Amino acid sequence: MPGRTEILAVDPEHPQPEAIDRAVEHLAAGGLVAFPTETVYGLGADATNPEAVASLFRAKGRPAANPLIVHVLDQDQARLCVSDWSDRASRLAERYWPGPLTIVLPKSPLIPDIVTAGLDTVGVRSPSAPAARALLARLGKPLAAPSANRSNRLSPTLAQHVESDLAGLIDCILDAGPTALGLESTVLDLSGPEPTLLRPGPISREELAGALGKPIREREPAAGGPLTSPGQLPVHYAPNTPAVRIDAADAATFHAQGKIGLVVLGEAPALSQLEPVVRADLPDPETAMRMIYRVLHELDEEGLDLIVIVIPPDEPAWAGIRDRVSRASRRV
Ligand code: TXA
Ligand code: MG
Repeated sequence: MPGRTEILAVDPEHPQPEAIDRAVEHLAAGGLVAFPTETVYGLGADATNPEAVASLFRAKGRPAANPLIVHVLDQDQARLCVSDWSDRASRLAERYWPGPLTIVLPKSPLIPDIVTAGLDTVGVRSPSAPAARALLARLGKPLAAPSANRSNRLSPTLAQHVESDLAGLIDCILDAGPTALGLESTVLDLSGPEPTLLRPGPISREELAGALGKPIREREPAAGGPLTSPGQLPVHYAPNTPAVRIDAADAATFHAQGKIGLVVLGEAPALSQLEPVVRADLPDPETAMRMIYRVLHELDEEGLDLIVIVIPPDEPAWAGIRDRVSRASRRV
């Protein structure tokens, strides 16, 4: 148990080598370091060190059945983590790495079972944020890194979010300010015969299907069967304040008592009945991706009775946001 968490400010474009060296010291000693990626902050441990990974699960309060994403510098390092780097994987990595795409493939013996929660597959992704790349380059090993929040809480897009969830439980936080994209990576399973989308994200299913020249299955919602990706649990990524979601078409007639916070995703609808004390408008998918967690973190601090989220249209560019909002709220 670290006790004290060292917080090191780094330049988002040119992270200071001294700070990277210090973070790498912690990682090499089996410690836990939160670092910025282009999606959200990750909580990193040396992916080849099972004790370090065990302490990562403890710090997050993460169920042992939920596998971690392994972050790599490039395709060469990815090849060491998987047993068969397929042509499809190469094609997608050429196009989208470094970037917000996680590829699931059969794992190699380099990756301990604890990382993949006993699954015979591993999710690998090469992040583009300079601090993440500097850490990977300097450590020379893959980094197991889930989002740097306590299990089932909102993902962090600012170092302050990490600090309020995990201070005292981890060794170090690299603070490079807000993350660029704001929504977790798209997770694509290439381990079976049919490419399958496990988690929608910044790169849409339609884009990936175009790049592969082949349709991509959407994973059926878990109907009581075993989960391929526990990120698909219905309640996940949630604020503490009760949150409901409504369609834009229902906004004019929706009514609620108490201190209301409103989040409008997409074009603003008519809202004759609702008088929110705070309101955030995120009109386009890029802004919404970048700001959704930050807005929900902020509303969670306002002592509201209810957060009302007007959901965006069912269009490919909004799929990742719709997915996260559906996990963060109840439908009314
Ligand atoms: O953008 C991201 O992906 C961020 C940054 C830090 O890279 N990471 C992230 O990790 O969101 P996490 O652990 O919060 O979510 C990982 C998701 C989970 O839904 C997990 O179940 C799924 O990926 N996953 C990981 N390995 C898998 C595997 N072998 N098979 C199926 N799903 C897997
Ligand atoms: Mg997470």
